[in-house]
Amino acid sequence: MTDRPHRPTRRAVLAGAGLGLLASAPLGIGPASAAKKKTRSAKPAEPEVDGTLLPIPRLVDLVDGETFDLVAEAATHAFLKDKPVAVVGYGGGYMGPALRLKRGTKPKVRLTNRLARPTNVHWHGLLVAGRSDGGTHPGVAPGATWETELAVDQPAATLWYHAHVHGRTAQDVHDGLCGLMLIEDETSAGLGLPSAWGVDDIPLVLQDRTFDAAGRPVRAPTPTTVEHGLLGATMIVNGVADAVARVPARLVRLRLLNATGARNFRLFFEDQRSFRLIATDAGLVAEPIELTRLVLAPGERAEILVDFAEGAATLFTAPDPHEHRAGAQTTLLPDVVDAPVKVVAFEPVKDERPSAVVPATLAELPAPPRSTSGLKRRRFELRVRPNPAMVAQVGAHDHHAMSHGSTTNGQIALDGGMTASSEPPVLLTINGKPFAMGRIDEKVPLGATEVWEIVSPDMSHPFHVHGAHFRVLSEDGDKPKSWNRGLKDTVLVENSAEILVTFTRPAGSDAPFLYHCHLLEHEDGGMMGAFTVE
Ligand code: C2O
Ligand code: CU
Ligand code: CU
Repeated sequence: MTDRPHRPTRRAVLAGAGLGLLASAPLGIGPASAAKKKTRSAKPAEPEVDGTLLPIPRLVDLVDGETFDLVAEAATHAFLKDKPVAVVGYGGGYMGPALRLKRGTKPKVRLTNRLARPTNVHWHGLLVAGRSDGGTHPGVAPGATWETELAVDQPAATLWYHAHVHGRTAQDVHDGLCGLMLIEDETSAGLGLPSAWGVDDIPLVLQDRTFDAAGRPVRAPTPTTVEHGLLGATMIVNGVADAVARVPARLVRLRLLNATGARNFRLFFEDQRSFRLIATDAGLVAEPIELTRLVLAPGERAEILVDFAEGAATLFTAPDPHEHRAGAQTTLLPDVVDAPVKVVAFEPVKDERPSAVVPATLAELPAPPRSTSGLKRRRFELRVRPNPAMVAQVGAHDHHAMSHGSTTNGQIALDGGMTASSEPPVLLTINGKPFAMGRIDEKVPLGATEVWEIVSPDMSHPFHVHGAHFRVLSEDGDKPKSWNRGLKDTVLVENSAEILVTFTRPAGSDAPFLYHCHLLEHEDGGMMGAFTVE
């Protein structure tokens, strides 16, 4: 099936089923190679592509009342052609299957931990009670399992799931502990959008990596990467570098997920063609939004429609230098790439099916209210500052930082070969405090709608809220960017943003929700808070 990833046969899909492999692993690792041989002998081979055919994650439908087994375990995977390396994932491959859930159902998921370290799983964007969600806990010990029911009641959307153990999230997601999650509902199913998985409805999990000579992704945090996030020079899509997707020469839906630790993708097609944004993080937008570029920060998703009747196209991302502001001074931390980099190439193939048409309207999404006076407001100030203790000497204030905020940095330090000092090189805080396990920072009444103001004086941060969706009211005092007009759960805050959040799911102090920066080194380093909804 390597030859024809754009049209997975039922057999091909079943060949991967139960093994947790990507449905069309293009590199002949494991059982996929058997299916490959069969397909090859049955059909004349299509011309070789210049690159690696885009693998498509296996799609699994979760069934009402039934239990799906999600197994976190080690696997082998080749990011670079013919260079298989050790990775982790769910079900035997790099990353996990795409889990599809229907609105109105209550499937169960059982997470089994076959790793040597504790794990958990967070349903990013899913509206469920805190106890059904992995926040910083419950930790699932090696060999243990954790089961929960997911009561699905929210609009169709592209979500994702990932490990969320405090202090380890960047490393775990880098290693492969993440996957897509799709919500379906009747309204979206009636729109006639392209919806054949891997054919004209194509998931693109975007990541960046730095590889060693053996093809192993390396991750070596330093004080600078804790401060600004770790960027990789090679873009990988669905786990492979130099990806080429064969697509039908008609309207195609791309589901984009930024699953990097720190890169803000600044996406555009090299021929500058326009495309239509149809969904943001948490669901369809009111009507398609025509764009020629799209910024996608860590944690964010977008669905776009691209017309490949217009011919072949390559998706690029522009460099993402991080600006660091300190008072009047602005320093620029350059990206590891200094020119646009290829993300994925699309090769259209003629097929007999008629093209879908772009719907004029997509969803009922009322404009946010003009006036929000009378609503409860909360303010969150996200700061990145050098740790004064690294300059001055340990005092009472530093003791506070050590006991509350720096154990996680200590862990990064040990993993990444930094000094094992318990002093973090930078202080990552929200409202002056680094995250502390067990501390509840905010208490929100169940059913409340509030205005949250997020301020980021030092640099931009992708701010994310668990267990709730929001609308962006303003960005830097202005109206939201065109790609931030839909339902969101993560927003890139350049200087400031106001969001209107509705809290419809409960979370007690035993399993609180979290808000945090989704730049994963920042999250791990303490730029996170916990809140209850009750
Ligand atoms: Cu995707 Cu708490 O995060
Ligand atoms: Cu989340
Ligand atoms: Cu941040």
